[in-house]
Parts: sequence; structure tokens; C-alpha cells
Amino acid sequence: MSFKIGIMPGDGTGPEVTAEGVKVLDVVAEKNGFTLEKVNFDFGGERFLRTGEVLPNSAIDDFRKLDAILLGAIGHPDVKPGILEQGLLLRTRFELRQYINLRPVRLYPGVPTPLANKGPEDIDFVIVRENNEGLYCGAGGFMHKNTEDEVATQLLINTRAGVERCIRWAFEYTRKYGKHDPKMLTLVAKTNVLTFAHDLWDRVFHEVGKADYPEIKRDYAHVDATCMWMVKNPEYFDVIVTTNMFGDIITDLGAMLQGGMGIAAGGNINPKGVSMFEPIGGSAPKYTGQGVINPLASICAMGMMLQTLGEDAAANQVEEAVKVVTSTKLKGMGAGRMGYSTSEVGDLVVQAL
Ligand code: IPM
Ligand code: MN
Repeated sequence: MSFKIGIMPGDGTGPEVTAEGVKVLDVVAEKNGFTLEKVNFDFGGERFLRTGEVLPNSAIDDFRKLDAILLGAIGHPDVKPGILEQGLLLRTRFELRQYINLRPVRLYPGVPTPLANKGPEDIDFVIVRENNEGLYCGAGGFMHKNTEDEVATQLLINTRAGVERCIRWAFEYTRKYGKHDPKMLTLVAKTNVLTFAHDLWDRVFHEVGKADYPEIKRDYAHVDATCMWMVKNPEYFDVIVTTNMFGDIITDLGAMLQGGMGIAAGGNINPKGVSMFEPIGGSAPKYTGQGVINPLASICAMGMMLQTLGEDAAANQVEEAVKVVTSTKLKGMGAGRMGYSTSEVGDLVVQAL
């Protein structure tokens, strides 16, 4: 078996953490008998400042020829907010139809959580975020901009097809990986206010669940209540499915519960196409080049990539090795507080493998 992997380190600390993800990937590939062809992409803030180009159309075609992409981070202090986010990250998510954003919220042993009296057995759920629609469509505009009569609109777009494919994928994921008995999928939305858009979500959720996933318990929670429960009783959740915007917000809350941006990973998944995996923390410009940033999130993102490529055994090995490192080695998760440098943490994961 051979995989063609795009490596896109991006900005800030992205290259440092991606180097460790790739280091562990090489070792786990060798151990499991698959080979890798790596293709490097230098897109990001530096290249934009140099050439004015965020992502040429040819890059999207190049991405289509890959099996998966490992992304570091994007975001540059000298580039106006929005340019790289929309032109690189969101464009890739949309054009490659990566309509699932998968974000596990899992507290590994030895990792501090801000929640008192909660441990790894309590904080262990997965958020399936819709990744192609909703408020992220970029539809809307201004009228009478910069006057007192200004009108600004931003459309919340939900298609039946887009909602259904996300919900079906979430049910399939719950069937395969749900941990509760019975397995439970919670729809997180705001049906009491978004009475059209989220009514569609609610109807599709119950129609699909009732017809095709009768063994899975169907649960519903408003997004505001979800924020309370994620803090108060995170053990309640098994798998969550939610919209793009709400998913963006609650996955940052989830990242904090699992020990912060140093460990939180996510996948932008096209189940039949090319998926892209990333540590969900940003480019952390102030730590750039110091070797102090935690690479575990990149290593975990790489592990998720292996699972999506069907290399389940290798993915499990990576996760177990990360657990060994968090439980027996690291002093902390934050930048500069691990007791080891970025590359030493990568080495520790390799040793644990
Ligand atoms: C994320 C990020 C992105 C998002 C930004 C950078 C556009 O916050 O991946 O969660 O909002 O989806
Ligand atoms: Mn976010």
C-alpha cells in the first residue's frame, strides 16, 4: 500500500509541529508496511506576502491527486484577517467538498483539564461539525456601506442534501465508534429560534435515524445548553452532530476541556475524496521558531488521517503512543511548559511506538 500525502506546513509554528507529525508518520508507516509519497506545498502567509497568491487554481487540481493532506497552521500577523482563512482553508474545505469536520474531545491520561473532578473517563466524546454550509457560505453583502443607513447581511444557507449527508455520516460514525450503551447521537442546534433552518436539521435527523439507524439513541440539545453540559457533565455526550458555526464554537470549548490547543486535532473529511487534517490551534506567531510549541495536536491529526485512510491499526498505535507520552513524560501541555522541546516530544512519541 502506498499513499500520496500533501504536506502543507503553513505559517508560524505550523512548520515546527508538522515536522513532528511527519516524523511520527514515517516511523508508523515503516512499522505497518505502507509507503508514502510526500508532496510539499508552501502556501500560507509568507508566500502570499511574497507573490500575492493565496492558492492558485492549479493547487486545487494538485490536491485532488492526493490521498490526504496534513496541514500545519495558517494565519500571519502581517496579513489582514480573512484573506488566508477564506482563500486557503475555507476554499480547500469547500472545493474538495470536505463536508465533515471531525473533532474528537478526548482527555488523555496525564493531561490537565480545567474541569474539577473530571478525568479521561468523563471527557471522551466526538463532535461532527458540518463543514461546507451554514453561515460559512460567504453569501450576503452590504448596502449603503459606511453610512448611517448601512445594511449588512450574511445568509444562513442549509440545503437538504448538505444536511442529510452530514447527518448520515454522523450516524454511520456513531454506529462504528460510539461508546455509550446504547450508542447516542446528539443533534446540537437552536430549533427554538432558527425555526426554519434548524427545523430542517431536526426533521432530517429524525427521519434518517428512524429509518436507517434505529439502534442509535437520538438526542437533541440546544447549543447554549450544550455549552453548560460540556462543562457540567461532559460524560453525558457520546457523538454530537452540529452545524458549521455552532461546531466552530463548541469545538474550541471542547479543545479546552481536553487540555488545550496543544493537543486538539481535527479532520476536514470528504468521505469519498481527499481529506485534510490539522491541529486546530492557530499559527501562534509569538512562539514561532523557538521549539517550544506542543506538536501532539499535529501528531494526533496525522493519526486521524491514518484512520480515514483505512490504516486503523497504525492510527491506534499513534494514539496509544501519545497516551504514553502524556501520562508518563510531559509536565504540561502549553507552549514552553512541556519539559521538552517540540522535537523532543516528537522523539518521545517515536520511542513509545
Ligand atoms: C477552525 C477555524 C476556522 C473556522 C477559521 C480559521 C476560518 O476557527 O478551523 O475552527 O472558523 O472554521
Ligand atoms: Mn474554530
